[in-house]
Amino acid sequence: MSIQVLDKTFVPFLTSEMIQDKIEQLAMQISADYLGRNPLFIGILNGSFMFASDLYKRISTPSTISFIKLASYKGTTSTGTVITAIGLEEDLSGRDVVLIEDIVDTGKTLSAFIPSLQKMSPASIKICTLLQKPEALQHELQVDYVGFEIPNKFVVGYGLDYDGYGRNSQEIYQLA
Ligand code: IMP
Ligand code: MG
Repeated sequence: MSIQVLDKTFVPFLTSEMIQDKIEQLAMQISADYLGRNPLFIGILNGSFMFASDLYKRISTPSTISFIKLASYKGTTSTGTVITAIGLEEDLSGRDVVLIEDIVDTGKTLSAFIPSLQKMSPASIKICTLLQKPEALQHELQVDYVGFEIPNKFVVGYGLDYDGYGRNSQEIYQLA
């Protein structure tokens, strides 16, 4: 069944079962890769809150989780857009960081944010995203864990929004 979010109509795209099965696979992979390494997961708000919650429940290795919001501002002409983290209080030095995103679209947000994260001397930084639109990627960005590669079409649901609405579903919908 299609849904209406504000002025737009969306059609079913990924079922709850498909999403949860994929998260189980991602969690098994990540738990194995980080065995004994005490990783720090960082969920990027708001979009990733459902994904981060469902993923983290299934991580089986000792680890911690925190959440941040990203704020962008125009830097000097040489630095372009600078992105800073709001709410990051953890000491990252020596930690293996796993960023949790809902979707990587152009890659602009994460590629602008990661340099400032690197200055905090983590042992490593990896990216885990539920969705990626490979055709939309415009920035140099290595995404290490990808749930679904999807076409370059706008999606909502399971935490993803259209102008703040449409986050509240267990399924993901695509613009009709
Ligand atoms: P990027 O910086 O272009 O990679 O964009 C990443 C951010 O844009 C995501 O964290 C989302 O908040 C938002 N975004 C990109 N595509 C979609 C979409 O299809 N639905 C909802 N939000 C999206
Ligand atoms: Mg987001």
